[in-house]
Amino acid sequence: MSGFTRDAAGRAMLGGTLIRTLLEAAGVSTPAYLYDLDAIEREARDMLAALGDERHTVAYAVKANSAGSIVRTVAGAGAGAEVVSRGELEVALGCGVNPNRILASSVGKADHELDAAIASGIAAIQMESVEEISRVAARARALGRVAPLSFRMNPGVTIDTHAHVATGHEDAKFGISLADLGAAWDVADRDPSLRVAGVGAHVGSTLKQVSSYLDSARVVCRVARERLASGKTLDFVDFGGGFGIDYGAGPIPRPAEFLAAARRLAEGEGLGALRIVVEPGRSMVAPHGVLVAGVIQEKRTRNGRWAFIDAAMNDLIRPALYGARHRIEPLDRAPAAPAWRVAGPVCESADDFGEHALGESVPAHVVIRDAGAYGFVMASEYNGRPLPAEVFISRGSVKSVSPSPGRDAWVARRLSA
Ligand code: LLP
Repeated sequence: MSGFTRDAAGRAMLGGTLIRTLLEAAGVSTPAYLYDLDAIEREARDMLAALGDERHTVAYAVKANSAGSIVRTVAGAGAGAEVVSRGELEVALGCGVNPNRILASSVGKADHELDAAIASGIAAIQMESVEEISRVAARARALGRVAPLSFRMNPGVTIDTHAHVATGHEDAKFGISLADLGAAWDVADRDPSLRVAGVGAHVGSTLKQVSSYLDSARVVCRVARERLASGKTLDFVDFGGGFGIDYGAGPIPRPAEFLAAARRLAEGEGLGALRIVVEPGRSMVAPHGVLVAGVIQEKRTRNGRWAFIDAAMNDLIRPALYGARHRIEPLDRAPAAPAWRVAGPVCESADDFGEHALGESVPAHVVIRDAGAYGFVMASEYNGRPLPAEVFISRGSVKSVSPSPGRDAWVARRLSA
């Protein structure tokens, strides 16, 4: 059994083992993230199978969760990586990701980051502006190398998602607008220290419909066809990531459905000879990670009941930042009415996880679901709260533990600052 489930008594399990048992075996206290590595590996394999050809690349968006145990797992399944900083590049390389399956994005890459990307021989550096192209050329010349480039274009596609995670519209800071793409290619094609390897787009996150993905992919295919028709070369088309997951509001097509449709599209457009690259992050890890918290105290007011837990917006910022809803349930019994307003101890009104069915009395512990992506990686130490522990599960038992740095370390660092 894999992922999040409950036993017949309603107790929460991950990877087929009681989460309470896993926490005890790991020897960590709450708040703690737990991840099911086997389920994550299966996501990577499913996506690779949907693309159906070893030439194609599932470039895992490391920003979703950069834990070495997770990146090694997806690399072992044959995935590549999409990285947005030198730190993420070094994690990907250190986890054994094949450089030929790594893409480096970001609207502002420092020279040292460009140097590291060029020197490590990755598949492509993604251009997000015309201005950036000559900077990459200068670094490639300095290193005596030819830098492979991919052009992240802005297809002008608007998707139905939170404004903070929509990236494909004309006002976004990301990507090169379609109107500027020809000029961008001219600059790159003329420079012997650059090689145009790919073209792609990523229109945003939490996509709920295959059709939005295809709207963007169609523009990518058209641009690729035009380039090939003009006698220029191209290695790959990159359709980006962004596949949504079911956070509790209802089912969403599986990532494999998005990918199979995109592959059919590319083949139908006569681009079957090109490598297809996709960049999923959330869908690979979000459903297979949970954040477990202890309930510190309840508070009853005239207007309702609050449950204060020992995880807060510093541990999982998605509700505060995007108004995201993560299901919060009792750890040792199934959810039941009445609902409690669940909040963390941080001194911000936004530190509020919303209403959740915890039952007549508050449970000792709760589990916050679908926290495997954009959880720990966005955590901070705000309010003097150390980063939470992370526990990695495989075959139903604890494979490794990354402990919290702890309060003493935080205090010592602040005292010496
Ligand atoms: N490729 C590029 C160029 C991206 O910018 C992103 C995500 C991805 C791929 C992966 O997208 P995914 O498959 O994970 O949706 N912190 C936000 C999400 C930010 C996404 C940033 N870019 C959240 O918690 O919802």
